[in-house]
Amino acid sequence: MYKKIIVFEGIDGSGKTFHLNEVAKYLSKKKIKFIKIREPGGTKNSEVIRNIILNKKSTFKKKTDLLLYLAARNENYENLIKPYLNRKVILIDRFIDSTIAYQHYGFKINKRVIKELNNFILGNLKPNFTFFHYVPIKRIKKNISGKKNKYDSFSKNFYNKVQNGFLNILKKNKNKLLIDSSKNKKYNIELIKNRINKILNING
Ligand code: TYD
Repeated sequence: MYKKIIVFEGIDGSGKTFHLNEVAKYLSKKKIKFIKIREPGGTKNSEVIRNIILNKKSTFKKKTDLLLYLAARNENYENLIKPYLNRKVILIDRFIDSTIAYQHYGFKINKRVIKELNNFILGNLKPNFTFFHYVPIKRIKKNISGKKNKYDSFSKNFYNKVQNGFLNILKKNKNKLLIDSSKNKKYNIELIKNRINKILNING
């Protein structure tokens, strides 16, 4: 019953990484085997690629970034996802939907090309469930505090386009839950935990 791929999506600063870590703690407590992956990054090789893309001084073109995100995904797929498929729960911080939301809805790269590249790497592999962390528009920060990396410094308008992209993609997906980040943190932790219990068929 376990062994699912569960993805956490949302714009920067939406709280997805916080909630993924809460789920990881919960699964550890329940002694359920899982692995945690972040994209871009995850393996030694894909962390190298992550540093290239997100370097504040990077001047790569948007299509170059797309290919690098996909290159990092391939490393994760071959080295982490494939070997653990059907063996452990796989928790992923950003996946296919981030690429469509950022590279297509944000940067206007052709959606078909992105989908074909994803299929080329992943075949018909799809996440079993997606938690989408939504930030109400007035709460989107103009610049994410601290400007940690290249992708943290875009305008509010850009993040709004990306977030609307996520909403569009996930509209058609039945296996998702929208988490409103303006709601109480504890409330959201419980909401996610309850859904995890259902997805993995475990007693709370
Ligand atoms: P990350 O550091 O995980 O974001 P966060 O700020 O939420 O911790 O991800 C870095 C950036 O990479 C993020 O701004 C989104 C971007 N990204 C894409 O543009 N396309 C992709 O396919 C992925 C996986 C990430």
